[in-house]
Amino acid sequence: MAKQSTGYTALQLSLHWLIVLLVLFQLIFGEDMGQYNDTLSSGQDVAPLLTGYYLHLGVGIAILVLTVFRFGLRLVLGVPASVPGPALQVRAGEALHYLFYLMLIVTPVTGLLAQYVDIETFGEIHAVNKPVFIILILVHAAAALYHHYVLKDSTLRRMMVPGSN
Ligand code: HEM
Ligand code: HEM
Repeated sequence: MAKQSTGYTALQLSLHWLIVLLVLFQLIFGEDMGQYNDTLSSGQDVAPLLTGYYLHLGVGIAILVLTVFRFGLRLVLGVPASVPGPALQVRAGEALHYLFYLMLIVTPVTGLLAQYVDIETFGEIHAVNKPVFIILILVHAAAALYHHYVLKDSTLRRMMVPGSN
């Protein structure tokens, strides 16, 4: 059971939306990294691909660091209690949030292990994280929009307005 607060702080909200943008960037441009590695192993010039390499590495590490910080904030400040609803719906929403945190840690860590330890094993796991992330995002975003437009509750608003519940 997470510690409860009366609303997300501006910092928590900024971190949520910043991490969303960074993850979308990685999902859209992730193949640049595979292309960099393929070009490197075939002995061709990687200079034109270096920007893509450093961006994927840097953005990935930023996601890892920001997520650890965000999870720490969650432990210290808490999060607002789930908007009341059927028990199964509330539990599923909370479980999905933990799954997101797991993915936000596992994905950059397997990326680092793929790049610097073993591309075969960890590269495969890292690549599988892509469809998993996409499915989680689609379910999570659809749920947020369903809460906002169909149930007309405060779930999405409180992810936009600091201190609202
Ligand atoms: C949350 C952070 C990250 C996300 C969402 C992400 C996402 C992706 C995606 C979508 C791909 C393309 C997979 C495909 O071709 O199907 C990829 C490839 C790759 N990423 Fe990441 N990545 C992240 C962090 C990192 C980090 C920190 C590194 C460390 C260097 C890294 C290293 C790699 C490597 C080596 C590949 C190529 C794997 C291969 O070709 O087998 N990633 N990533
Ligand atoms: C990469 C994409 C995303 C990730 C990783 C992500 C992650 C998370 C996490 C971990 C939480 C739990 C609250 C916390 O601990 O701060 C959360 C809450 C929330 N997210 Fe996302 N999210 C993503 C995209 C989106 C999108 C696109 C929307 C809107 C369409 C959205 C709307 C919400 C809402 C409304 C909540 C609050 C739920 C509540 O308070 O019960 N998220 N998100």
